[in-house]
Amino acid sequence: MAIFYKNENGTILTALSGGSVPAGFEAIEANTVDAATEKHVPAVELQRDGRVIHVQVGEVEHPMEEAHYIEWVALETEDRLEVHHFKPGQKPVTFFPVVAKSGTVYAYCNLHGLWSAKF
Ligand SMILES: [Fe+2]
Repeated sequence: MAIFYKNENGTILTALSGGSVPAGFEAIEANTVDAATEKHVPAVELQRDGRVIHVQVGEVEHPMEEAHYIEWVALETEDRLEVHHFKPGQKPVTFFPVVAKSGTVYAYCNLHGLWSAKF
């Protein structure tokens, strides 16, 4: 299971498995910031007979303004960790052409931190 870490400068690291925490970093826990869950928890939908994983952040689309936007979405399954980056002005929607019955989708808001949803 991927672990995300952040330092005081906002740099984010991802560890592909557990172990020691990098110096100066703290682990980020998903879904712990007090903010609107419906705009942050990724809405995951398996499409095309489970061959495409469609993601929108969130159930109610998250704002994508210069000062407040979803920086990236990541898909973690048994055999991969894949990250899609976003810029302000883009829609916080993406898809992964991946066959997977289960996994975790993460979304990172520049103001409200890390969010996740399992499928
Ligand atoms: Fe946000």
